[in-house]
Amino acid sequence: MSLQNEAIAKACCANLYQSDMAKLIMGDSLHPGGLGLTNKLGRLMGLERGDPVADLASAHGVSAQALGRVFRCSIVGVEFGAEAVRQAHETSAVSGNAHFVRGDAESLPLRSGVFDAAVCECSMSLFMNKARAVSETARLLRPGGKFGLSDVTVQPGSLPDDLTGDRGQVLCMTDALTADGYVELLEQGGFTVTERLDASDEIIKILDEVESKLAGFLAIQRAVGQPAGDAPLDRAPELIAKVRDMVGPGDLGYWLFVGEKNSPA
Ligand SMILES: C[S@@+](CC[C@H](N)C(=O)[O-])C[C@H]1O[C@@H](n2cnc3c(N)ncnc32)[C@H](O)[C@@H]1O
Repeated sequence: MSLQNEAIAKACCANLYQSDMAKLIMGDSLHPGGLGLTNKLGRLMGLERGDPVADLASAHGVSAQALGRVFRCSIVGVEFGAEAVRQAHETSAVSGNAHFVRGDAESLPLRSGVFDAAVCECSMSLFMNKARAVSETARLLRPGGKFGLSDVTVQPGSLPDDLTGDRGQVLCMTDALTADGYVELLEQGGFTVTERLDASDEIIKILDEVESKLAGFLAIQRAVGQPAGDAPLDRAPELIAKVRDMVGPGDLGYWLFVGEKNSPA
């Protein structure tokens, strides 16, 4: 893909996640497990008061602000979507020790070797050049620094046709790796993986929530006269059922990983 097309694809993805519709359907936290799982990741990483921490693909800043509040660390969020960064600035002015910049996780606008930790939730699966994002993360961290990653896992060849391509991409599925694939990615990028935790149950919970919000939304659309089959969301219940069917057999999951940056040889 040309650099120009890559930038367009990243902007489309950012526009979708910073839209009111995404918030309406997903709520404030744009990953399975919500802030409960964010804090669990922070505990697994051993975040401490005052630690400088980077949040890669921080969206509108909800996780970064929570980590700042709970662990008293000093967080910088980097996010591709300008509107999401604007919203993050607005809310962080109230909540304190989180700051936000617009940027690309594959080319981070942050200084080398000064961070104790970095988190990346439900976004590595979206990055076009994952190895580059991991090497950029390694660049930011001091030796021994922690990288907390949580993401969607997909078994190769298990996605139904209508969950591949662009639709699967925005749902973090098309380019997701297996759990072993993320471990390999981290290890090839200079980390030793110290924790890996299966949180796939959280996908079922988020599907339950999304399904009930959608049902209400579709009912309102019908009540105001939207003809059946015309709305882009009409196929959503069928797609949700397909996603749900993948979780039981382990074709789709959500995992947490902690990597520790290796010291130079
Ligand atoms: C599924 S959301 C997750 C947001 C947040 N980490 C969370 O868990 O709530 C994915 C986010 O990744 C951002 N994103 C995708 N590619 C990016 C990139 N190359 N650099 C920075 N942000 C990116 C999107 O704009 C979106 O806000």
